[in-house]
Amino acid sequence: MTEGRRHLVLVGLMGAGKTTVGKRCAQLLGRSFVDTDAVVETATGKTVAEIFFEEGEARFRELERDAVADVCASPEPLVIGCGGGAVLDPTTPRPLPAVGLVVWLQASPPVLGRRVGRDRTRPLLGGSPEAVLERLATLRAPAYEAASDEVVDTDGRTVDEVADAVIRKLHAWTG
Ligand code: S3P
Repeated sequence: MTEGRRHLVLVGLMGAGKTTVGKRCAQLLGRSFVDTDAVVETATGKTVAEIFFEEGEARFRELERDAVADVCASPEPLVIGCGGGAVLDPTTPRPLPAVGLVVWLQASPPVLGRRVGRDRTRPLLGGSPEAVLERLATLRAPAYEAASDEVVDTDGRTVDEVADAVIRKLHAWTG
């Protein structure tokens, strides 16, 4: 493993399974799981939705960037679930691959919509969640691709199957 590249980092759209798969991977690897949204919420004492509505998306992105930087600086090897938009920060895609193995969890927009379409905690998903997810998938694909080392498809797979696929990639990478 390259010196300094210690974390397992999961990126992808809302509903890709970063938190559920990340927690399962952490359990299997005996590591801690850290979700950058949770770090922002703890730091501010507000939910992601409250930050979006009260302070705006731009402020949330600043807080998210700081959270990603703090979590990645941890000397303890972690499993990190990055909020779906974290890779959009121009300073994030390049440092991200330098901190660990970055796996892009992919799913088709209809599947993402079924998983999180009714979830009111995600402020970007108002109106027509599936249309939003479709648009974000197209818009963000280049950023996810640039930020990740590996891709794992999650459509039609259970959490355990996806976690196993991710861990196989980690083992292949660490040798
Ligand atoms: C967002 C994804 C969310 C959260 C916020 C914005 C995005 O995280 O950070 O609602 O821009 O894709 P999850 O991907 O963990 O749902």
